[in-house]
Amino acid sequence: MALKKANILIVDDDYDMLELVQRQLREENFHSYQAASVVEAIDILKFNAVDLLITDLQMPGIGGMELIKYVEEHFPNVPKLVITGYPSIDGALNSIKSGALDYLVKPFTKEELSKAVENSLPKRSIRTENNSPEIDKPFIYAGIVGKSEKIEQLIDLIERVKNNRATVLIQGESGTGKELVARAIHYKGSFAANPFIAVNCGAIPEELLESELFGYKKGAFTGANDNRQGFFQAAAGGTIFLDEIGTAPLSVQTRLLRVLQEKEVRRIGEQKAQKIEVRVIAATNSDLKQMIKKGTFREDLYYRLNVMQIETPPLRDHKIDIPLLAKNFLKKYATEYAKPGIEITEKAMEILERHNWPGNVRELENVIQRALIMSEKSIDIKQLPDYLKYPTPNFESNSKSLQQVEKEHILKIMASVDNNKTKAAEILQIDRKTLRKKLK
Ligand SMILES: Nc1ncnc2c1ncn2[C@@H]1O[C@H](COP(=O)(O)OP(=O)(O)OP(=O)(O)O)[C@@H](O)[C@H]1O
Ligand SMILES: [Mg+2]
Repeated sequence: MALKKANILIVDDDYDMLELVQRQLREENFHSYQAASVVEAIDILKFNAVDLLITDLQMPGIGGMELIKYVEEHFPNVPKLVITGYPSIDGALNSIKSGALDYLVKPFTKEELSKAVENSLPKRSIRTENNSPEIDKPFIYAGIVGKSEKIEQLIDLIERVKNNRATVLIQGESGTGKELVARAIHYKGSFAANPFIAVNCGAIPEELLESELFGYKKGAFTGANDNRQGFFQAAAGGTIFLDEIGTAPLSVQTRLLRVLQEKEVRRIGEQKAQKIEVRVIAATNSDLKQMIKKGTFREDLYYRLNVMQIETPPLRDHKIDIPLLAKNFLKKYATEYAKPGIEITEKAMEILERHNWPGNVRELENVIQRALIMSEKSIDIKQLPDYLKYPTPNFESNSKSLQQVEKEHILKIMASVDNNKTKAAEILQIDRKTLRKKLK
């Protein structure tokens, strides 16, 4: 039965409880992940597709209620099931009892657990076969594929900026869809009939960028044999997309600032400026704030560009979209390579969903494209590159630093009590078993 393929994350600081729940779930063929703390749980959530969260409330350090809030914010589609000790007067429990969350009171029977899990798992998270109609729904907005909250927020922002000429700064890691977003803003907006001019500032030699952008007058410099329009003039009425803005030299930045301030462009070698109506969208994957500190990016320009700010999320923050994206790329290349009817097996999809995607959507697209070329009937594990098959190190430092802090704190307390575990556990307000495990 498809339902049994759901991934369930169990969080409890009590290892016996973890084991018990895990065993019972396994008997029913569910996959499960165990975490003994909220920090570990968040790590698992970030890097794995989780269909249901089962959590204890009272845990040392960060409690279960915090975890629930985190999940609500970052993984709103993940249902939550709470395990509580005896019903206490804890305020959190009231919200649970009011029906906001499902809960199980310890001790519970196998049947009670099984029923609660079944009830909590929504129909949508059931992994069915490859051609699930749910996944075949388009969820596409101007080429942007996704149904996660991150993508919804992105589309919402695009909707808000598309019809005005306010300058937009798009920031995000490489391959996260910055250019896609810039095009969506233009083509969904009210100036879509006017030109969209994309300029990759990093690809044009520095000494040419200025004249390419703003144009020049005959005789302005050696080689300026006639009058030339720049990209700005060409984009009049529409949008100019300044990609990799962080690479623009200071001379160009100064001119750009003037264009944004005065809403007019002056060609090189020309005295008179022309009024110009153009929306500027800039994109970068470099840290402009850092560049400002180093003096390589103008602070005033940054604030002029940053009127509206859009961040494209890294793929690891919306892994829920991986199947949808993968299928879309499959469809795209199936037509291109005349290889219709090839599907991604469930095992292969699991690997895709587990990977951290440092190269983001572009990396995923390349993987699917190559796998399709290699495959005859379906895309299975065999067609995926080796590096996907082994877990990548967790390079996100957020959660790690917390763990680091925890580790240092524990070691400090241990030292202060001459390594007496009982005393240390008392101070840390955790039980000895937990402490032993952590020390390991
Ligand atoms: N949400 C998405 N849905 C569908 N395709 C996407 C999505 N995000 C990115 N892509 C695809 O991934 C590839 C990379 O996207 P894009 O070029 O827009 O990224 P970028 O952020 O500009 O990257 P870079 O910083 O490397 O220039 C493109 O082929 C794009 O169509
Ligand atoms: Mg780009």
